[in-house]
Amino acid sequence: MTDGDRSDDAATDAGSGTAAPSDVADEDTTDEGGDTAADRSPVLLVRENREYLLRPGERLETDLGILRVPAGVQPGDTVATHLDDEFVVRRLRGPDLFHHFERTGAPMVPRDVGLVLGETGAGTGDRVLDAGTGTGVLAAYLARAGARVVTYERDPEFAEVARENMAVGGVADAVEVRTGDVIEDLGDLSGFDLLTLDTEDAPSVAARADELLLPGGFIAVYSPFVEGSRAAAEAARECGLEDVTTHETIQREFSFGDRGSRPDTAPVGHTGFLTIGRAPDAPGLVE
Ligand SMILES: C[S@@+](CC[C@H](N)C(=O)[O-])C[C@H]1O[C@@H](n2cnc3c(N)ncnc32)[C@H](O)[C@@H]1O
Repeated sequence: MTDGDRSDDAATDAGSGTAAPSDVADEDTTDEGGDTAADRSPVLLVRENREYLLRPGERLETDLGILRVPAGVQPGDTVATHLDDEFVVRRLRGPDLFHHFERTGAPMVPRDVGLVLGETGAGTGDRVLDAGTGTGVLAAYLARAGARVVTYERDPEFAEVARENMAVGGVADAVEVRTGDVIEDLGDLSGFDLLTLDTEDAPSVAARADELLLPGGFIAVYSPFVEGSRAAAEAARECGLEDVTTHETIQREFSFGDRGSRPDTAPVGHTGFLTIGRAPDAPGLVE
């Protein structure tokens, strides 16, 4: 149920020890008591190269013994298996969402999320239109930065997984996952501070950015191919957006070895192209 991964990061996390749903045994309801939803938020149980995503009250059979997560566990606590191997409890943060969300549409990698946040300043009080939701990594990061997000996913199964991912990420209240094709709803949408687009048909949405964005609002279009970026940039300019730029997103990892330091020999970390543009300010506000 995936449309592919975009990165070396995506390829490497398969061995991280993430618990597959089938690894999780029946919930141990004896620990639940009168817990609130917040008490039941998933946490990571971490030991060396193992990371298991579990909720308080759940138990998991691992190669190191049975792990039971007590109610009320806090980040930094340790939880031992029945064979006395200890795991540390970690609260999920953005990169953990990237590694542990159930994957459907290829998620945006953390460095590209960082570029979107940095170039647009998305944050508290912003209203964001995001399409498509896919795995929901970008939507969750935006919500964690304080924005309220309306995100569209046309594949109903993907949308359902994304809703579950938002719950795992603790942002279900801030992210509304709508099942449907964003293009079909464009006529009913307006008043956004930010558009984040990660679909092949993003240029068709960019062409309506003037109707969707508030004055001074931003558009960020993420495309795996430069042809898509060019089409999005042209559409954004044609509908009156300003300061339209496109950058390739590349990140090189460095190795610090005994003989010296150099870029890692893994392939150059190209993941895509990011096009940014901005709606003009309201007439009369700018000289
Ligand atoms: C590359 S994924 C998005 C990943 C997402 N940015 C993330 O960080 O997880 C693209 C998703 O957009 C969905 N999609 C494509 N065109 C769409 C459209 N017009 N309306 C709604 N969803 C669309 C696809 O089904 C796919 O799941």
